[in-house]
Amino acid sequence: MRISFCCTGTKAQPWLEGLRAAFPHAEVNVWSAGAPAADYAVVWTPPQQFIDEQTQLKSIFNIGAGVDALMALRLRPGVPVVRLDDAGMSVQMAEYVCHAVIRHFREFGGYEADTAQGKWSYRKPHQRADFPVGVMGLGILGERVSRALAQFDFPVRGWSRSAKSIPGVQCFSGQAGFNDFLAASRILVCLLPLTPDTENIMRHDTLARLQPGGYVINVARGSHLVDDDLMALIDSGHLAGATLDVFRTEPLPAAHPFWTHPKITVTPHTSARTLREESIAQIVGKIRALERGEAVASLEGVVDLNKGY
Ligand code: NAP
Ligand code: GLV
Repeated sequence: MRISFCCTGTKAQPWLEGLRAAFPHAEVNVWSAGAPAADYAVVWTPPQQFIDEQTQLKSIFNIGAGVDALMALRLRPGVPVVRLDDAGMSVQMAEYVCHAVIRHFREFGGYEADTAQGKWSYRKPHQRADFPVGVMGLGILGERVSRALAQFDFPVRGWSRSAKSIPGVQCFSGQAGFNDFLAASRILVCLLPLTPDTENIMRHDTLARLQPGGYVINVARGSHLVDDDLMALIDSGHLAGATLDVFRTEPLPAAHPFWTHPKITVTPHTSARTLREESIAQIVGKIRALERGEAVASLEGVVDLNKGY
């Protein structure tokens, strides 16, 4: 068996060691142009040349949850794409989003600024009922985040393509439910995959539907958000601010106004990291299942190439 590793921006050696330890008889190598045909690929944002040259792949394993970079390539028909299925990401995402929501709701940023100046001062507590949180995307990450927020007694709304039922979450679905979902939300969390349907979904007319004093938390992809529209709505006072983990260009360019905007908190695409050991274990388990002859459809995390996620 041959496994080809083609992960842009990823330190390859520990991945190769992990995969070789699991498959001592396999050839596991970093892909380079002209490399021999592999049976399986482990990828993150591979180039088109990789897809064009690797014509014998039985399956492509993406070492992240989002497959938008792969979907932008011309993939070979019939080759399944398997994304990470949680692999330790959902708890990280729940931590990040709960932290951002609570930091905003409790005004911890303001307290940090005060105490940095030696000021002992109080802010008036807010009512949780006035801070409904809307989570766009109720998949592996969004569902976990919604449940975690509900544990803190925030009113939680969720929006997905198909109808869902999640305890403690008021669920909306489809285009028909979108405006009602936005109107029922003050804090908006984006956990959608990036597809043609969801690109630019956070723009002036949609963000304007959030309740006054709205707040945006984008942890999905930068292209879900129209940057200038967000800043205009913050500057007009309709939105109170934003916490942003993902950007149209990453790293966020030094001159981008998000860096210095007083009401925008920036983190470097770190809300839910790929955890190497968990991810290798998951991919190894799936390759073993396929090698035993189990059907691809029986695996968790197989991407629906028509839906694009
Ligand atoms: P997922 O399990 O595929 O869930 C996607 C959710 O979005 C589903 O609930 C789906 O609805 C919904 N959805 C998709 N298209 C929609 C549409 N047009 N209208 C309404 N709802 C729609 O994905 P996930 O694992 O939760 O991950 C979500 C995204 O998070 C990833 O694609 C990635 O971009 C991002 N991410 C970011 C980080 C980070 O560190 N910042 C880390 C990991 C992932 P249905 O359930 O009805 O299909
Ligand atoms: C990270 O952004 C991922 O999609 O896993």
